[in-house]
Amino acid sequence: MPIVMPIYGTRPEAIKVAPIVKALQADDRFDCVVTVTGQHREMLDQVNELFGIVPDHDLNIIQPRQTLNGVFARTLAGLDAVLEEVGPDAVLVQGDTTTSTAAAVAAFNRQIPVVHAEAGLRSFDIMSPFPEEANRKITSQIAALHLPPTSVSRDNLLREAVAEEDVYVTGNTVIDALLEAVRAQVPFEDERLAALESSGRRIVLITTHRRENQGDAMRGVGRALARLAARFPDVSFVLPAHRNPVVREAILPHLEGLENVLVTEPLAYGEFTHLLSAATVVLTDSGGVQEEAPSLGKPVLVMRENTERPEAVSAGTVRLIGTDEELVVSEVSRLLEDPQAYTAMSTAVNPYGDGRAAERTVSGIAQLLGVGERLPAFDGA
Ligand code: UD1
Ligand code: UDP
Repeated sequence: MPIVMPIYGTRPEAIKVAPIVKALQADDRFDCVVTVTGQHREMLDQVNELFGIVPDHDLNIIQPRQTLNGVFARTLAGLDAVLEEVGPDAVLVQGDTTTSTAAAVAAFNRQIPVVHAEAGLRSFDIMSPFPEEANRKITSQIAALHLPPTSVSRDNLLREAVAEEDVYVTGNTVIDALLEAVRAQVPFEDERLAALESSGRRIVLITTHRRENQGDAMRGVGRALARLAARFPDVSFVLPAHRNPVVREAILPHLEGLENVLVTEPLAYGEFTHLLSAATVVLTDSGGVQEEAPSLGKPVLVMRENTERPEAVSAGTVRLIGTDEELVVSEVSRLLEDPQAYTAMSTAVNPYGDGRAAERTVSGIAQLLGVGERLPAFDGA
């Protein structure tokens, strides 16, 4: 039986790979051997626990304030032994993290075919997001099977001369995970969130962590949030804080003691998606949240200068605003004060998937390994 090895290391990869792992485990054509690098720890374990995934191999590479090269080097070194021991027939990597690209390189060097989920996203600016734009381009050079979520990302790959037969549009598995989590209707463990939901107050949900926003830009976002909290005392601002100490040091000092600002630890995925469903406005620099919020009809203001996810921008539910303090204040204010502007951005759209991306992914792997046929490609929902 062919061995397929999904390799992942961070929270967003775990969320997006979980539906693929579940589908592989349920399929008796494959032996699925899960390997995690542990680039993230608590935030990774939270997702694996939720989806009931127990990794077969865990490199546990995380270090406080780790560097990109440190993560890359420890991943490459740790994986080599695992690949030798297990001898997988294919390795699956997801997206554009350092774990993902280092794992692709490790497999390629051992001539193991690489399946790249969420392939073909491009911002066309090598420095933004940094280092993710470079990471995903490197993986595209060495992958055997490319699984873009949408026709936009497929076309990016075809323009880079990737062979058409190696490209298969699946939709993004984040929508599979989201639909399952929303269906489960996970209650809030944090009593403050439960109380907030029953109060009926409007909620602005904020997440931030991007490397290129760390430092001055993130401090400006912290100041903008403090100003917004003062201007809208009837609105609650909720920030599930990333574990990265660099992020916390930049943003949290501005929010101390503000009554209508609630800072939490990273929320388990079920609680986070519950909060997303309850939110009025989403302010974020996250990739995954940009994909999830539109399908729940939530307006998203993206604190970045560009995006590799233009589909929801075209649909009108996502707006790029950058990190300028004044712009963050004015754009959030506009959505809270102007019902017309709000309505224009709050139509639910599903450009990223229909909940069947994991099934398609597995059918793509089956074809690659000669044990089945591909399902019809995702062509928009
Ligand atoms: C990484 C990914 C980024 C992804 C983000 C998701 C790369 C280059 N970047 O961000 O693409 O969007 O994860 O969140 O791969 N930490 C903990 N516990 C955790 C997680 C992080 O303590 O569970 C702390 C550690 O001190 C760690 C720091 O956060 O050193 C930064 O983690 P890291 O994975 O290096 O973050 P980014 O590279 O910014
Ligand atoms: N998320 C979560 N708990 C939180 C914040 C985010 O489960 O407290 C989820 C969110 O729903 C999305 C993913 O984490 O699926 C996004 O992760 P992150 O923003 O860290 O990384 P990115 O998507 O930018 O790579």
